[in-house]
Amino acid sequence: MARNYYMAGNWKMHMTRSEAATLAQDLVNKLADGKHKYLVAPSFTLLETVSAVVENTNIRLGAQNCAPEEQGAHTGEVSVLQLKELDVQTIILGHSERRHIYKEDDALINKKVKLALKHGFEVILCIGELLEEREAGKVEEVCERQTVKGLEGVDAGDLHNVVIAYEPVWAIGTGKTATPQDAEAVHGFVRKVIARLYGQDAADKIIIQYGGSVKPDNAAQLMAMENIDGALVGGASLKTDSFIPIAKFS
Ligand code: 13P
Repeated sequence: MARNYYMAGNWKMHMTRSEAATLAQDLVNKLADGKHKYLVAPSFTLLETVSAVVENTNIRLGAQNCAPEEQGAHTGEVSVLQLKELDVQTIILGHSERRHIYKEDDALINKKVKLALKHGFEVILCIGELLEEREAGKVEEVCERQTVKGLEGVDAGDLHNVVIAYEPVWAIGTGKTATPQDAEAVHGFVRKVIARLYGQDAADKIIIQYGGSVKPDNAAQLMAMENIDGALVGGASLKTDSFIPIAKFS
């Protein structure tokens, strides 16, 4: 099954505007001949700056979150309407840092997923188990629940705008990557869950990224696995020297 690789940088809460502009311009130059699909997701305050740099290039612009409502009295939140104005194309939702630090649950994430899709955004829905859940043998149970509940009420017709990112929480920012075999097992399982929900054709097409300590020296082995279709990269996406070899893995 030919799925195009999707290589994404989640910049998290890093960088100033000038640093972001420099990094984005460097990526634009060095990925111009890249063969895969690319995305950068900077903080809200950097979006306008980065938007101007990546406009009309092969790098998509992503946000790291959005509010579950279009507008209203929601102090501190950012709306899909505001993101659209900045030409944001993709929204990362359900990241483990949102789930575990900011206590977002599956119902809230699902509300955001549906709102983002309704407004025509691509959604990267992040799923993944905690270390204690892995040790308790609950990897499939957790990933299935987060996938099913995250996509509850999402029409099959919108699934082409959904990407899943499997990010085992214990591998995020720790330098501990899942082995390609361990990651592949979960990716294959999640694809089966999608097949059950939306049919085999949709499951064959959906992009499932891996995230969690992806580095230049492990990207190619991970991407070689049948069901791993890209990467959601944190720390290594903050420097051209580490993101370019990942984005152009061979
Ligand atoms: P690291 O690549 O820093 O482990 O972060 C992964 C991640 O959370 C991307 O969303």
